[in-house]
Amino acid sequence: MADRATSGAPVLLVAASGLAREAAAAARAAGREVVGCLDDSEALVGHRVAPELPVVDCIDDVDRYPDAELVVCAGKGAVRERLVHRLADHGVEAERYTTIIHPGATLAPDTVVRPGSVILAGVVATAQVVVGEHVVVMPNVVLTHDDRIEPFATLCAGVVLGGAVVVGRAAYVGMAASVREGLSIGAASLIGMGSVVVRDVPPAETWAGVPARPLEPG
Ligand SMILES: CC(C)(COP(=O)(O)OP(=O)(O)OC[C@H]1O[C@@H](n2cnc3c(N)ncnc32)[C@H](O)[C@@H]1OP(=O)(O)O)[C@@H](O)C(=O)NCCC(=O)NCCS
Repeated sequence: MADRATSGAPVLLVAASGLAREAAAAARAAGREVVGCLDDSEALVGHRVAPELPVVDCIDDVDRYPDAELVVCAGKGAVRERLVHRLADHGVEAERYTTIIHPGATLAPDTVVRPGSVILAGVVATAQVVVGEHVVVMPNVVLTHDDRIEPFATLCAGVVLGGAVVVGRAAYVGMAASVREGLSIGAASLIGMGSVVVRDVPPAETWAGVPARPLEPG
C-alpha cells in the first residue's frame, strides 16, 4: 500500500461541513484523534457541529495547530482546491495533509491513496487503483482495476467505475452513477445521480441520464 499517510498525529478538519462530520467519524473509527474543525464562520467557533466535533478556530488561524495533520472537508472539489491554495499562503505544505480511510473500506494492497483524501465505509478498490490528492470517495463506491481518480474529484455514494476509468481533476460524480470501462470524465465535469456513462465526458460539462447526455443549461 503506497502513499497512505497515517502518522498518528491528531487530525484537524478544514470546513465544518457534513463531510467533516463523516470524515471525523471515519478518522475515529480508524483510531485517529480528531482535534475539531476550522471554519470561516466566526459564529461557529466555540460551537459543536456534532457531539464530539467542535469548531476550534477560523481557517486563517491554522498556524495555531502546527502539530495537527489536515484534511480539507468542503464538499465541492473546486472549493477544496481554493482552500488548499489559501492554506498554502499560511505555509501549509503538501506534507501537512493526511488521508482518512474508514476501516470498513476494502482496498487492495496496491491501492494508492494520496494525502488529503477521504475514503468512507464500504468503498472497494480492486487492483492498481490510484486516488489522487484531496479526493473524496463516499460510502460503497466501487473502483475497479486501473481506475485513476485525479486530485480534488468527488465520487458520491454508490458510484461504480468499470476498469481503467479516469475521473478528471475536481470532477463530481453523483450518487449511484456508473461509468463504462476505459472512459474518462473530464476535469470539473458533473455527472448526475443515477447516470449511466457510456461515452467520454468532456471537461466542465454536466451530463445526466441513462445513457448520460449533456444537460441543457437551465
Ligand atoms: C444533474 C444535476 C446536477 C442537475 O441539477 P440541476 O442543474 O439543479 O437540474 P434540475 O434539477 O433543474 O433538472 C434539470 C433537468 O434535468 C433532469 N435531471 C436532473 N438530474 C437528473 C439526473 N440525475 N438524471 C436524469 N435527469 C436529471 C431533470 O429532471 C430536469 O429535466 P426537465 O428539464 O426535463 O424537467 C443534479 O440533479 C444531480 O444529479 N446532482 C447530484 C446529486 C448527488 O449525487 N448528490 C450527492 C450528495 S452527497
